[in-house]
Amino acid sequence: MDTAEFSLAPQPATMFGVGTVDRVKDMLSGSNGPILLVADPAMTALGVVDRIVSGLAPRTVSVFDTIKSDPTEEQVEAGIAALNAAHAQTVVALGGGSALDAAKAIAVLAKASEPVSAYRLSETPLPKRQIGLIAIPTTAGTGSEATRTAIVTGSDHVKYWFWGDPLDCDAAILDPALTVSLPPHLTAATGADALVHAIESSTNMHTSVGSQLFSLEAIRILKRSLPRAVAEPEDVSARGDVLWASYLAGCAINQTGCALAHCFGHALGSMAQVHHGRAVSIAMAAGGDRVAAANPAAFSQVAEAMGAGPDHRAFAPAFGELMAEIGLDLSLPADAINVTPEGLVNATRAPANIAMLDVTVGELDRETLGLIAERIVATTPAFA
Ligand SMILES: [Fe+2]
Repeated sequence: MDTAEFSLAPQPATMFGVGTVDRVKDMLSGSNGPILLVADPAMTALGVVDRIVSGLAPRTVSVFDTIKSDPTEEQVEAGIAALNAAHAQTVVALGGGSALDAAKAIAVLAKASEPVSAYRLSETPLPKRQIGLIAIPTTAGTGSEATRTAIVTGSDHVKYWFWGDPLDCDAAILDPALTVSLPPHLTAATGADALVHAIESSTNMHTSVGSQLFSLEAIRILKRSLPRAVAEPEDVSARGDVLWASYLAGCAINQTGCALAHCFGHALGSMAQVHHGRAVSIAMAAGGDRVAAANPAAFSQVAEAMGAGPDHRAFAPAFGELMAEIGLDLSLPADAINVTPEGLVNATRAPANIAMLDVTVGELDRETLGLIAERIVATTPAFA
């Protein structure tokens, strides 16, 4: 057995199943006070917000549903104002990664002494959370319901990491039926994000048999069911598999963090408008053979979990085949025309990204990083 040290903390109290969204009340603990429901506006339109409010009766629920994709510090400040105006003692977060991240930041920073921007990159340690926090994901990818991180965009348009134990949720509710409305291209991109979380958690310097309990199982499930969830959006069984795998991958990265594909993916995301799941998949497709060669033992386990046999050299082709099967476009978008290999390599060393570079196993000298960056840029379509 690999004897790398690990410790397993209790995960959020978790409820899984179709219809569990109607039972949020079962997961409340502590106060009987008012609740702030922080929701993606699409969930209001779909009637899910009303279902949750009904299920929480007779508790007082205020709804804050103006969260947009890539939430900003300004939106978090507005959410904090809504929470304090309602005297809310619990936040229920409903939506994709953006809504969950915003809601987590609102709950943690509701009583903070400093403005939200002071807590970027843990420059100021997060205060102890005084507000209850329940997460209900409606996409399967970020695993935010199981992680102690949030990404919030500053007034300077830079996406900042926020991290710390207060961002761990008290409870998570995984209702597969909430994810069936996600269109195939987003199912593919978010599911690929979960897959890359699981791969990087299985292979970086912090991996252990404890984290692999979650990550290797997530890979096995995603290989089996992500293509079906993309091809048959109404297949609740496949949706449930992918939602569960996304949660497991979140549990895994909460122990280990990510690695090089997320480093390049964030670098790319800071330079062009590209979906996070697509960005990290582009990076994994470009560098998968190199990281696997540098860390054959761990990547042979990943290859086996992907059904490709226990040889690390099988990993990169298997990853590419799965991306093709789910139809994920691995070319760069039109606005990436100014993304250069040099710019990408430099961005891997930005304060927000370098930790993910440092935990990647293997010699990643500038030449190797440059080669991977060139491959990323080479997929840019020509726009004459
Ligand atoms: Fe990710």
